[in-house]
Amino acid sequence: MNAGFHVGGDAYDDFMGRYSTLLARLFADFAGVEAGSRVLDVGAGTGALTAELVSRGASVAVADPSPEFVGVLRERFPDLEVHEAPAEALPFETGEFDAALAQLVVAFVTDGPAAVAEMARIARRVAACMWGVEEVDMFAAIDRTAETIGASRATEPRRYRTPQELHDLFAPHGEVEAAELDVSAGYRDFDEFWQAMGRGVGPAGQWVASLDDETRERAREELFDQLGSPSGPFELNARAFAVAVTPRP
Ligand SMILES: C[S@@+](CC[C@H](N)C(=O)[O-])C[C@H]1O[C@@H](n2cnc3c(N)ncnc32)[C@H](O)[C@@H]1O
Repeated sequence: MNAGFHVGGDAYDDFMGRYSTLLARLFADFAGVEAGSRVLDVGAGTGALTAELVSRGASVAVADPSPEFVGVLRERFPDLEVHEAPAEALPFETGEFDAALAQLVVAFVTDGPAAVAEMARIARRVAACMWGVEEVDMFAAIDRTAETIGASRATEPRRYRTPQELHDLFAPHGEVEAAELDVSAGYRDFDEFWQAMGRGVGPAGQWVASLDDETRERAREELFDQLGSPSGPFELNARAFAVAVTPRP
């Protein structure tokens, strides 16, 4: 499932990158990435986690099935090994990596259990994180807006977004460690927020792009109200749930 991710790297960064860059630090800490470890960033997108792993001195390879994102990754990280590949079929030898990390990916893959099994095949430690469903201010405000103005939207994927579902996805591979990772992202003003929304990224961005002009304007006004009518800079919170296992040999 790739809806809304065939977009430019800047558009993605503008919409989601301001959150995922902060999340990457917490997630890499949680997964225990150290200098010198050989790490695969699975579903690397525009490289928010990749940059964090590189800055820690890890030896990093990346994979993503989106040709657009692979292009961005090759440009941003010319020295890294970049593969166009889905999590379900990783082009690596068994046990080749110390760790395989998937940040904000498992809800989007076609086959979650197959993806985690494949990560567990190639790595000695496997970790994933996903935003919660209710715990992301931005998505909650967009959902309330869509409901209030009666313009239904394709929701964010709902799979593997709760601690229980993530636990169950990983449990076949070992004892599951879990954590809550909290970040908050800042916006200069509402216009900056709305512009990022209008760039067609992910299900929310696609929803905005699908609206006719009049409905889009109603959505903009309602969203402004839903965010508390900010007159200047404001922050939105987001919580991700993370799980990790050290797969049984
Ligand atoms: C929300 S983005 C997260 C990107 C990046 N990991 C980050 O934290 O910013 C979801 C990513 O999952 C990728 N993706 C979709 N289906 C996938 C699959 N089957 N295997 C691996 N990645 C997939 C998309 O191409 C996209 O890059």
